[in-house]
Amino acid sequence: MPDITITPLTKMIGAEIGGVDLSKPVDAATREALSQALAEHLALVFHGQNLTPDQYLAAAEAFGPPMRQHYSQHHMPGYPDIGLVWHRNGQAPAERWHTDHTNRERPPAATMLYGVEIPSAGGATSVANMRAAYAALSETERERLDSLRTVNSLDTGKSDTLPEDWDKYSKPIVHPMVRTHPVHGSRAVFFHITKTLYIEGMSPEASRAYLSDLIDRMIRPEITYTHQWRKGDLFVIDDRATMHRAHGDYDRRESRVLWRIIVEGDRPRLV
Ligand SMILES: [Fe+2]
Repeated sequence: MPDITITPLTKMIGAEIGGVDLSKPVDAATREALSQALAEHLALVFHGQNLTPDQYLAAAEAFGPPMRQHYSQHHMPGYPDIGLVWHRNGQAPAERWHTDHTNRERPPAATMLYGVEIPSAGGATSVANMRAAYAALSETERERLDSLRTVNSLDTGKSDTLPEDWDKYSKPIVHPMVRTHPVHGSRAVFFHITKTLYIEGMSPEASRAYLSDLIDRMIRPEITYTHQWRKGDLFVIDDRATMHRAHGDYDRRESRVLWRIIVEGDRPRLV
């Protein structure tokens, strides 16, 4: 058994991982332990990491192969598989609950965020357990959600998407609204409200209203963990059973820079 520690951060979601230096190669046993920990706790925190872009890309492989992100204007120069999360180049914090890149046929298994420049106050990242959210719905509503499918594309409300990214990544992709976790075997609610063009059989307006109502009802403080950043933190989010959001409550004269990697996942399915 690898020499790592796993300490839950809340009752419902999140665990702190100790005893792993991600700047060094991760062996197969540790990789398996991390995969299981992610599937169970859905968000993992590694403090005190010191990573170059190359080391970070190598560490990400423990969770899966890095995949290209679709807002290419925010790619790190020379490292197109690392996205820069910051408030430069017109980027706004993603303050609505969502899961990443649902416009892909195989959306990411995980989103990794590495804290490089952290403001003195605010700017946290929250994550919600959508497995627990699903379990808390009434049986009638669970059955309804089990039958629904979303049609996904790039956010239509974003004005700064580059034409070449639009061409590559806007093709409509259909996903089940409830998916079975490939490692854990449990079900979770899965959608991105502003990447959903519509729910099959519903108008775009009715779809948006229903998804918004679902988020309001499902995401209660008890199923969330809010990560207050420290420089050197690596935060890994399981995109197959969570939603997350940024908090824009920090002083814009300060810098907040996270390096983001997303890693390849499976095609979502309900079994
Ligand atoms: Fe995100």
